[in-house]
Amino acid sequence: MSEQLDILCVGLSCLDIINEVSYYPEEDMDCRCVAQWWQRGGNAANNCTVLGLLGARPAYLGTIADSHEKRFLLDDFAKYGVNTDHLVEVGGCSCPTSCVILSQTTGSRTIIHANAGLPELSVDDFSKVDLTVFDWIHFEGRNVANVVKMIEVVRKHNQKHQDSKSITISVEVEKAKAELDALIPLPDVLFVSKDYAKFKGFSNMAETVEKIQTQAYPGCLVICPWGEAGASMGREGSELVKSPAFPPTKVVDTLGAGDTFNAATIFALSRGYSHSSSITFACRLAGAKVGVQGWEAFR
Ligand code: ADP
Ligand code: FRU
Repeated sequence: MSEQLDILCVGLSCLDIINEVSYYPEEDMDCRCVAQWWQRGGNAANNCTVLGLLGARPAYLGTIADSHEKRFLLDDFAKYGVNTDHLVEVGGCSCPTSCVILSQTTGSRTIIHANAGLPELSVDDFSKVDLTVFDWIHFEGRNVANVVKMIEVVRKHNQKHQDSKSITISVEVEKAKAELDALIPLPDVLFVSKDYAKFKGFSNMAETVEKIQTQAYPGCLVICPWGEAGASMGREGSELVKSPAFPPTKVVDTLGAGDTFNAATIFALSRGYSHSSSITFACRLAGAKVGVQGWEAFR
């Protein structure tokens, strides 16, 4: 019998090399880190970490380079109870890597990302996965042309399995990129980041939810986190639901705040919490995350 899983996250897994500095350096400076460490990163991989910590049964799906970093990434997935049976190993390319500058003064995280050609997940790879074990599939907003087709695969699956519980589809549009527009009309639950919202010319989360709703899938729940302002969510025809942020005593590490928020929202909604409780829970958890370093201290 296959392992009982519930939430599949599709997207990037990469290596994050974190350089913790007492303050953000000036250009051309020669400075020393307070500390430096490796962390498993990538939005979908981070979503899985948080879902694992919350006691869900997450699975990760994406490509992974068959390079020397692979063992570190796989061991770390296992440490957080994330199933990686479906991931696709690719030989002959390097592991996508982010060099992150984490400032102790502000908790800001500056990300310099390199991906020297790891191929993206194909629709064929996705079609090989037994979807019947999942209640929810979350797609990171990348690899757009293929993700559009993967969502079609899930919609067809849902039509064929109307007798059983259908799979909820969520998508995150995060990066300020026009190609992500194609994903807006597709999912049941849509996360829209502040960066993408600003790129579209929206100035706050209420405006973002209201305007994006008109382009979204019928009945889609649109969710917009906005840093220290908290988050809002809404569905056409119903009232906007809001939560404030819950700042910790000191902000120490904002890397993955959005990933924490998204994972916590998915967890709460999938467990049947109300919209209002889900968004408040997600802001509380993301607030707690930015108050601690990395994921280990977050256990
Ligand atoms: P990203 O990490 O993708 O830029 P955001 O900055 O929008 O994402 O943050 C996501 C969520 O994390 C917010 O909705 C908020 O709940 C929480 N959060 C982020 N920064 C802070 C902060 N400085 N204090 C408290 N909560 C925060
Ligand atoms: C945080 C993150 C990092 C990764 C980067 C990729 O949201 O997923 O872990 O290095 O973004 O864009």
